[in-house]
Amino acid sequence: MSHRRMLLSYAILLAALLGCSDEHAGRAPVPGDAAAVSPPAASPVPAVTSVDGARIGAADGEPHNWLSHGRSYSEQRFSPLDRIDTANVGRLGLAWFFDFPTDRGMEATPIVVDGRLYVTGTWSMVYAFDAKSGALLWHHDPGVPRQWAVHLCCDAVNRGVAAWGGKVFVGTLDGRLQALDATDGKVLWSVQTTPRDKPYSITGAPRVVKGLVIIGNGGSELGVRGYVSAYDAETGDMKWRFYTVPGDPAQPFESPALERAAATWSGGEWWKIGGGGTVWDSMAYDPELDLLYVGVGNGSPWNQQYRSPGGGDNLYLSSIVALDPDTGAYVWHYQTTPGDTWDYTATQHLVLAELPIGGTPRKVIMQAPKNGFFYVLDRATGEFLSGDAYAYQTWAEGIDANGRPVPNAQARYVGKEALVFPSPHGAHNWHPMSFSPRTGLVYIPVQEIPFVYKHDDKFAFEPGLWNTGVDVEAAGLPEDPAAAAEVLKLVQGHLVAWDPVARKEAWRVEQGAPFNGGVLSTAGELVFQGSARGEFVAYRADTGERLWAAPVQTGVVAAPMTYAVDGEQYVAVVVGWGGGLPLAGGRVAQMAGSVNRSRLLVYALDGRQQLPEPVAVTRALAPPPLSATPEQVARGKTLYAARCFACHGDGAVGGGVVPDLRYASAATHAEFDAIVRGGLRHQKGMVGFAQVFGREDVEAIHAYVIKRAHDLLAEQAARQGGNAG
Ligand code: HEC
Repeated sequence: MSHRRMLLSYAILLAALLGCSDEHAGRAPVPGDAAAVSPPAASPVPAVTSVDGARIGAADGEPHNWLSHGRSYSEQRFSPLDRIDTANVGRLGLAWFFDFPTDRGMEATPIVVDGRLYVTGTWSMVYAFDAKSGALLWHHDPGVPRQWAVHLCCDAVNRGVAAWGGKVFVGTLDGRLQALDATDGKVLWSVQTTPRDKPYSITGAPRVVKGLVIIGNGGSELGVRGYVSAYDAETGDMKWRFYTVPGDPAQPFESPALERAAATWSGGEWWKIGGGGTVWDSMAYDPELDLLYVGVGNGSPWNQQYRSPGGGDNLYLSSIVALDPDTGAYVWHYQTTPGDTWDYTATQHLVLAELPIGGTPRKVIMQAPKNGFFYVLDRATGEFLSGDAYAYQTWAEGIDANGRPVPNAQARYVGKEALVFPSPHGAHNWHPMSFSPRTGLVYIPVQEIPFVYKHDDKFAFEPGLWNTGVDVEAAGLPEDPAAAAEVLKLVQGHLVAWDPVARKEAWRVEQGAPFNGGVLSTAGELVFQGSARGEFVAYRADTGERLWAAPVQTGVVAAPMTYAVDGEQYVAVVVGWGGGLPLAGGRVAQMAGSVNRSRLLVYALDGRQQLPEPVAVTRALAPPPLSATPEQVARGKTLYAARCFACHGDGAVGGGVVPDLRYASAATHAEFDAIVRGGLRHQKGMVGFAQVFGREDVEAIHAYVIKRAHDLLAEQAARQGGNAG
């Protein structure tokens, strides 16, 4: 069998295997797609080369590669490649693409090491490609139990791998860290990094520093205690662990830093729920200062009244923390949101750069966390240099000279409710930003979404499920379409070019919907970004002028990257709508009008591949008659808000990823109880709720869903009537 045929058959086999075992409703059969995408592999498969700290530290010396998550330890996501530039970007076309055999959110940034491209997909799967031909070299499915989805706040996503030695590392949704042989994807070692009886998950990309694989985790929406750990890249032995929040004060503190932190927590028994502070995404490393930086998440539960009712800053929640990479010892911290009560994580992308501040070059670290302020800190000491609002926000009056926010008392919802910007989705979420040292600008995917925070007076901790202490029902969009439309007018998404020295916006592009993709900037003076509305776009880095765009048939949330093989520059982006807002967002998520089509798209100058015509998704809206009482519907609404909205969407409005329950078929309606309590579809990520709900509860939820389907029918009829008149 020829080499090419062998690769093709592998792709077909893989796709067929996955296609029948995986959730693949409503999509064209994968084997055909996969076969169609692999052009001839003209040259032999590129050999695996060994990545180390010296190579990542000197990443600019090999611009054809993208060796780690943010390309280099500084995580600038700026590429020195300039073959594709403002003059020729109009010639960009699809060079090759790959259809992933899954249909949930796609958040990964591929990495490229000497002609081999490694990327992750849904359910923590890893794929290796020949970066030039697009031939699939191997695939690894860690076998995440699909029921684990109930422990995920924000879809079955993964943001990427790390490479070191001849290995590739991935963190799995169920908390394992795996070392794979980069040659063939075989598992070399696998360690459980989290207690299996707690709702931890891993979605972030590992980083490797000095032979140690650094990995965090998520789960603060459900109830966990955050930490970050380091594992020996060779053996998988754990070398250190840094907890970000104090545990039970009756027990010895794990470090002096935690003893100091404990003094900032007051009353309450936060350790029973967890306290939060998960390190679920961002990290950066400065080899000269030998400091590892991690971004720390929100409080668990969100509502500080249920976590630390006596107030306090609650260190090290919502902080940037500098650690000694050899030992995990605390070095300094800066807290962005003291006493977080709004889910304002500081896990957003961390970028290292040298900036002229007051005329002096300073080694800085920059972040645009969820809370809406853009921070510039001295990264040797943590000294606050500046903090300015990059988006509309109402929780603080500003940041004082010492870097402490001046609180807006209105925003704390103690015993009341408060409409606040930003929402828990953040003014900027995990979607990576990019810093171009050539323009001096930081390109940030910004969004503006309001949120009603209401103290949940009936809050009772339920292990393993969502536990925020916030009344999620009150936060929902009004059901009345006219009232909802008014709120939706406030929702925005834009790409912002931020000048971190002048401390102001340089330009912005309005995008009409929130939750747009991460960003890449290049020495070709270009900025690349995919949008929630399904375009992949190139802008001029200095002005924001739109130079090129391609429709991609699905929302894009991941960040693009670029690499070169044999002198040809490629731009790669993973597309596929999904993540926290697309699942939970309801009508806000629908602003993007997206469906999920999960693909890896690779562009080059004069690329000539075409995406197949999308298969139209047709759904019948044919609910059974509504026979329930208004009381049942109201009760169903409350239960739905508590247990279903996070995946099926606010107000039973689906965001294009997980089924929109209003469109359920007659067969599904007949099986409603068997699905919801019986767990009939648990192998597809729809867990059973038998422990939580009785038959009457599910009947009430069902009644609410039917009611919402009739609401939509009425809305459609009114619209048609309006059009006719
Ligand atoms: C962790 C995410 C998650 C949560 C929480 C969740 N679901 Fe689901 N649900 C799914 C997924 C994924 C599917 C699609 C399964 C498949 O492909 O068959 C689904 C499917 C369903 C279906 C079948 C829909 C159809 O048209 O085929 C029903 C009914 C349903 N869910 C009801 C509920 C109810 C009611 C709740 C709250 C009690 C709930 N779900 C909570 C993820 C979730």
